[in-house]
Amino acid sequence: IPLRQYNTLGIHAIARFFANFTSVDELGELIENNPAKGVNPLILGGGSNILFKNNLNGLVLKNDIPGLDIVKEDANHIYVKAGAGVNWHSFVQHCLQRNWAGVENLSLIPGCVGASPMQNIGAYGVEIKEVFEELEAWHLHDKKIHVFSANDCDFGYRESVFKGKYRNQYIILNVTYRLNKKPRFNTSYGAIEQELERMGVQQLSIQAISQAVINIRTSKLPDPAKIGNAGSFFKNPSVAANVYEQLKDQFPSIVGYPNADGTIKLAAGWLIEQSGWKGYRRGDAGVHEKQALVLVNYGNATGNDIYSLSEDVMKSVHAKFGVRLEREVNVV
Ligand code: FAD
Ligand code: EPU
Repeated sequence: IPLRQYNTLGIHAIARFFANFTSVDELGELIENNPAKGVNPLILGGGSNILFKNNLNGLVLKNDIPGLDIVKEDANHIYVKAGAGVNWHSFVQHCLQRNWAGVENLSLIPGCVGASPMQNIGAYGVEIKEVFEELEAWHLHDKKIHVFSANDCDFGYRESVFKGKYRNQYIILNVTYRLNKKPRFNTSYGAIEQELERMGVQQLSIQAISQAVINIRTSKLPDPAKIGNAGSFFKNPSVAANVYEQLKDQFPSIVGYPNADGTIKLAAGWLIEQSGWKGYRRGDAGVHEKQALVLVNYGNATGNDIYSLSEDVMKSVHAKFGVRLEREVNVV
């Protein structure tokens, strides 16, 4: 089965076996009858954070579990349980229409609900962990459903146990989010303030914040329907405060933000741009001209073309700044 339409980078990889499922029962049956015994199945949502480096020898399972239900309500919150196959931005719109606050800053992130806890998706000053209540996941080996609290997920910057120590062991079935009846606006990200002002917004609302985020995103991130990409290809690396000071002496315009633990998070896009890569193109693989953190496929780049470009970017950033970049996308 060709996977090109199932990954936003638009890589032409082939899966030996492919099926979709809409319930845990269907999932159980597919695993029971897996023709590729001994090879871990790959779970796919929207394919917007994945690089297929090679063809896949095993079974690819596309998660299409539906559902959006209120499971609980209290004075300040609405608890909504969403099926893992629900499109993330449709869920955000569902909340905006009902004035449920908390996910407006996360507007327009591609992909599905089921992948949102995988890397604790984040944008414009908010991470999913702030509205996360719990999730249900099915264990590949004991074939039982396990409930995970936020604590169990051990969320970090673009990290969770599902991306880390439990990689390839659990299949996320649904996620329950805790939304606020009274909004707490987060416009801490400078670009949002500027965009709200440009839009002429008088009365702040979650809908206005969502629109501001959408405007900023569409102005610099490539639309996967037009140019293949997986968003930020690398994470923003953190360095010790003294390392940051040394870098700042040498490169006064370096961009960094303090973390709660005193380390400094550097803007990888800046490091990559300063290393001369912005707008670079080699065959059909390239570095986006408006956002150097995004690697792009202009058409027929292979997974290996993108991967080897990412290696060269990492080497050159390390040579210039002594900083090691880490990939954000899941390489398969
Ligand atoms: P997939 O790519 O299908 O899967 C990602 C990983 O999760 C894979 O390893 C897969 O095996 C695993 N997985 C998927 N579903 C399940 C499941 N149900 N159970 C177990 N494992 C599963 N991310 C951000 O955090 N912030 C951003 O601002 C952002 N902007 C983006 C902009 C663009 C243009 C693009 C293309 C991507 C962006 N991303 C961003 C990355 C991506 O959208 C998110 O990581 C998203 O959550 C991935 O969802 P998906 O359904 O496409 O996951
Ligand atoms: N920058 C450059 N050159 C570039 C790109 C960025 O100098 O080519 C500088 C910008 O000028 C700015 C700073 O880097 O000062 C940060 O840039 P931006 O606001 O575009 O955000 P980012 O750090 O590049 C991160 C996330 C995005 C998320 C945005 C908004 C990571 C790895 N990426 O990008 O997430 O949408 O912030 O919060 O943390 C993703 O994960 O796929 C993703 C798109």
